[in-house]
Amino acid sequence: MMSAENATTRSLILGCMGMGGTWDQNPVTLADETKAASALDAALESGITTFDHADIYSFGKAETVFGRLLATRPSLRQSIHIQSKTGVSLNAGVNGDTHYDLSRKYIVDQTLAILKRLQTDYLDTLLLHRPDPLMEGEEIAAAFEWLHTRGLVRFFGVSNMHLKHIRYITGQSHFPIVANQLQFSLGHRLLIESDILVNQAGVAPTASTDGLLAYCHDQEVVLQAWSPLDKGKYLQTDAEDATTLATILKVKEMAGRYQVPPEAILLAWLFAMPARVVPVVGTLNPSRIKACAMSLNVKLSRTDWYDLWITARGISLP
Ligand SMILES: NC(=O)c1ccc[n+]([C@@H]2O[C@H](COP(=O)([O-])OP(=O)(O)OC[C@H]3O[C@@H](n4cnc5c(N)ncnc54)[C@H](OP(=O)(O)O)[C@@H]3O)[C@@H](O)[C@H]2O)c1
Repeated sequence: MMSAENATTRSLILGCMGMGGTWDQNPVTLADETKAASALDAALESGITTFDHADIYSFGKAETVFGRLLATRPSLRQSIHIQSKTGVSLNAGVNGDTHYDLSRKYIVDQTLAILKRLQTDYLDTLLLHRPDPLMEGEEIAAAFEWLHTRGLVRFFGVSNMHLKHIRYITGQSHFPIVANQLQFSLGHRLLIESDILVNQAGVAPTASTDGLLAYCHDQEVVLQAWSPLDKGKYLQTDAEDATTLATILKVKEMAGRYQVPPEAILLAWLFAMPARVVPVVGTLNPSRIKACAMSLNVKLSRTDWYDLWITARGISLP
């Protein structure tokens, strides 16, 4: 088992959902490219070398922008890890609804399109974005096999999946699932609370997260935490509700005491989990990216970890 308390195992991923500008069919702009380039540079300067994409981000434009940057810096590819996701099909339904599609054909076709947009020969990791109720393990296994044997994808993972989905997929395929990307942050704590507050009235329904944290820990599935900064909720100067305001003040006080930016406190809270958590930070602001990287060396005391948790809950533990 790996422990996130060992700082040498800590790492961050830069989420590229914001690259490529607006979610529409308009072309990529020079401003989009400039913004993406400064985020990429800030990440590299901070030691962040893994980049998270999805085929749907800005309708493919996030990958297009990143691909253009790669094309101008050919030597970069071998020193970074690129991850993308597929399986969510926007506007697929008759009314323009989103569908999920983990058929063999969809996974293979979308991955080929991802590689083309990113202007790369291979993905380090491909994640299945969300569970598809119509998914067949054999089809997923066949897609993995096809992509891996051609050298197009090195590793496979999932996102927003329950442990039963991971067990189902790994039961059909000989490829391990290396990561599960889930929403996880100080403000979105279902993974912890559904595990810990056993038989407790008033706790949110637990079925979808039950046992997931322990499973990822035991099986060494990296838990990639999306929206780890709660989109800046605890980094503001004010809030409408008392619990959020108290949490903002607590984060600020700890940031002063540990002499790091507040972003680092929020991420250090995630790093304290015994399971291997890798936050996928979504800011493209260079100074915020650098602030996030300061979390790699912050070890919160047990007292401070609990203090943050209880403050963000707004309710004492039973
Ligand atoms: N697997 C999934 O289903 C899934 C779902 C959502 C996201 N993701 C991945 O996770 C990544 C991160 O998600 P996220 O963007 O929701 O996470 P986040 O890191 O919690 O939030 C970052 C976003 O909040 C904004 N923000 C506003 N004020 C901020 C502040 N004071 N400090 C920091 N950020 C502030 C950032 O804008 P600025 O750029 O202006 O700083 C950015 O748009 C995405 O890029 C994507 O790769 C995955």
